[in-house]
Amino acid sequence: MAGVPIAPARFDPVARVFAPDAIGTKVHLRGWLQRSRSSGGILFLMVRDRTGLVQATAKKDVIGEERFAGAEHVQIEGSLRLAGTVAEDRRAPGGREVRIEEIEVIDPGLPFPIFQDQTEEFLLDKRHLAIRSVDHVATFRVKAELLRSLRQFLEAEEVLEVTPPIITGNPAEGGSEAFVFDYFGRQGYLSQSAQLYLEALLFPHERVYAVTPSFRAEKSRTTRHITEFTHLEVELAWCDLDGLMEFTERMLVSSLHEVATRRPRELEALGRPPAELLALNAPFPRLRYSEAIERLQKVGFPVSWGSDLGTAEERALTLEERSPIFLTHFPRELKAFYMLRSSPDERTVEAADLLAPEGYGEIVGESARETKVELLVERLRAIGADPAEYDWYLDTRRHGSIPHAGLGLGVERILRWVLRREHIRETTPFPRTPSRHTP
Ligand code: 4AD
Ligand code: MG
Repeated sequence: MAGVPIAPARFDPVARVFAPDAIGTKVHLRGWLQRSRSSGGILFLMVRDRTGLVQATAKKDVIGEERFAGAEHVQIEGSLRLAGTVAEDRRAPGGREVRIEEIEVIDPGLPFPIFQDQTEEFLLDKRHLAIRSVDHVATFRVKAELLRSLRQFLEAEEVLEVTPPIITGNPAEGGSEAFVFDYFGRQGYLSQSAQLYLEALLFPHERVYAVTPSFRAEKSRTTRHITEFTHLEVELAWCDLDGLMEFTERMLVSSLHEVATRRPRELEALGRPPAELLALNAPFPRLRYSEAIERLQKVGFPVSWGSDLGTAEERALTLEERSPIFLTHFPRELKAFYMLRSSPDERTVEAADLLAPEGYGEIVGESARETKVELLVERLRAIGADPAEYDWYLDTRRHGSIPHAGLGLGVERILRWVLRREHIRETTPFPRTPSRHTP
C-alpha cells in the first residue's frame, strides 16, 4: 500500500507492552478495537490482539487532525495498526499504556451489531461475530489446551493417533440416531463413533486413538446434546474394564492438571478456580448400576433394574460429588451391541460411564469389547441390524482376536463441566443442534 506510515519489518505482540523492560521503548502493534472513548482532546483506544489487551492514547497535536478524526471513527472491532512509546500509567489496565505517535486505520468497520442484553437467538445468528467475545476467546483457549494435553498424555502412553473415516457404510452405535445420506446411490452414514475402525486398527498397533467429529441425529433438545461433537476415542489391546477405568482416570487427571496449570486465568474468568481441577485425583469412585438404582429409588425416582438412566437420574447421582464417578455394569439391553458380557452375571456388560460431578452427567462412555462372533451376531440381530453389513467388523474376531477395551470421550461435554457452562453449545464455536446448522 502506498503511503502507509507504519511498515516495520515485524509487529510486536500486545503482551510485549507488559514485559519488564518495555517502559520507554517503541512498539508497533496491530489489532482490533475493543472499545474507545475520548476525553479532553485525548482518544483512549483499547486494542486487542491474540496476546492481550492494551490501552493506547492518541493526542491530536501528536498525530495530526486528520488521523485523529479517522481514529475517532473506528467502530468496535474495527482494525488498526499503531506505533508508540510504552509508558507507565496507573489508571490504565495493567498499569501501562502506549502513547501513540503514528496510527493507521486498516478497516474502520461498520457499527458492531453485538452489544449487551441481546437474545440468545440473535447471538447464535451472529455467532461468527459473537466468537470474538472475551468468554468465547477464553473457552476456545481452554479447549485447545485440553486437546493438547490429552494428546500429550496419549503420546506418552505410546498410543498411536490414527485417522478413521467419517463417511461410513454402517452405523456404529445403532441406526436410529445416525445421519443418513445418499452416497452415489447407496446409503451412507455420518460417523457416530470411530470405534469399529479403531478396533480394526488395534491389531497392528495395539494402542490407537483418534480425534474426530461424531454425529448424532438426536432430536432431543437438551443442554448436553449437540448433533456434531468432538470425539476422542481410544482403543487398547490386552485390556479389561478395570484397566480401562484406571487408564481413563490417569488421562483425565493428567490433562486437567495441565489445563489448570497452563490456563489459570481463563479458567478463573469463566468461573472455575484452577485449584478445583488440581484437587482431582485418581481413583474416581465406582458405583454399580444396581447400586445406583437402589440409591435413586431411595430418593423417590420411579426406576427399577433395567431402567435407562437419563439426565435427571445422572444429575441426582452426581450433584453432591466433587470428583467424577464411574457408573458400571449396566444391563446388556441398555448398551451397544459390541460390549463384553460380564461373567458370571451375564445380564450385565463390562461397561462404564464416567459421570462428571456437580450434576453435569456423562462425559465418557467405555467398555471391554465382545470377542465372540456368535454373541456379536446375536446382539446385532436383537437391535434389528443386518449382521452381513458388519461382516468386515466380525472378521477382526476371526484373525487373532484378543481381549481389548476402549473409550469415547466427549470433548465438549468435559468442557461444559470444567467451564461450568449451562449449555453445551457454548463449548463449540459453531454449534449444531436440531434447529440450527448455520452460520
Ligand atoms: O457413549 P457414547 O455414545 O459411546 C460411543 O460412541 C462409543 N462407541 C465410544 C467408544 O467406546 N469408542 O459416546 C461417547 C461420548 C459420551 O460419553 C459423551 O461424552 C459424548 O461422546 N457424546 C456427546 N457429546 C455431545 N453431544 C452428543 N449428542 C453426544 N453423544 C455422545
Ligand atoms: Mg454413552
